[in-house]
Amino acid sequence: MQAQLDGGRLSWSEAGGQSENVLLLVHGFPFNSAMWAPQLEDPPPRWRVIAPDLRGFGASEPSSDPQTMDGYAEDLATLLKHLRVREAVLCGLSMGGYVIFAFLRRYLRMARGLVLCDTRAEADTPEARAGRKQMALSARQQGTFAVVEIMLPRLLAQRSMRTPVETRLRQIMEASPPESVVSALRAMATRPDSTPLLRHLGVLPTQIIVGADDALTPPGEARLLARAIPGSFLEVIPDAGHVPNLEQPRAFNTVLHRFLDGMLV
Ligand code: MLT
Repeated sequence: MQAQLDGGRLSWSEAGGQSENVLLLVHGFPFNSAMWAPQLEDPPPRWRVIAPDLRGFGASEPSSDPQTMDGYAEDLATLLKHLRVREAVLCGLSMGGYVIFAFLRRYLRMARGLVLCDTRAEADTPEARAGRKQMALSARQQGTFAVVEIMLPRLLAQRSMRTPVETRLRQIMEASPPESVVSALRAMATRPDSTPLLRHLGVLPTQIIVGADDALTPPGEARLLARAIPGSFLEVIPDAGHVPNLEQPRAFNTVLHRFLDGMLV
């Protein structure tokens, strides 16, 4: 689905039909909403699932302004308002989590709950920022392909390598235009530290999920989040790396559905 909104065309996928219970799935970098296919194909009962393409990814038009996490978050709020959704459970993977933290700083009242997957609250370290700069240079000079070559070996658990999951993930990543990849890298490198926000999130039911073999945001990061967000639950998915929703969709969906079911009773 697509709509012409402030800042250009935004696209999203939907599943589950009409319901007041809305789950918003926010993809990571450099993916698009297609990374949520296993969740869109098996939507939680009684929930409407909305999976947007962030600006410049999938079928969403890039922004003409320099991209920021606040900009991505603003788009999500605009989309929810366009769809007349007053509040949603926000589920973000990795960069999707960074976008959700920016959203919460502005629109806490629109959040009904949180699912934070393979993400972290801290800002980039100087080394991480330097790495992003280098990656942006590769994307500019050689295209997105170069970024895929750098990232893919670290994204998946051993068990998911050389499987259809790897092929699919590669296709999704390679579909991202280099300009959008560069913009997102800049946005991630300049994002603020969200740690001070975490202690205020106890008001929201929160599920944290991480792949046991995630090399990019290891389970230790998820434990830090779980300790900092009062009342949150943590689930570690075995045999999964940075994208447990794709690598172990059944285990991931079981955790997601259980959490969402619990919000309905
Ligand atoms: C992602 O999956 O969104 C990225 O790995 C996040 C990051 O590079 O920090």
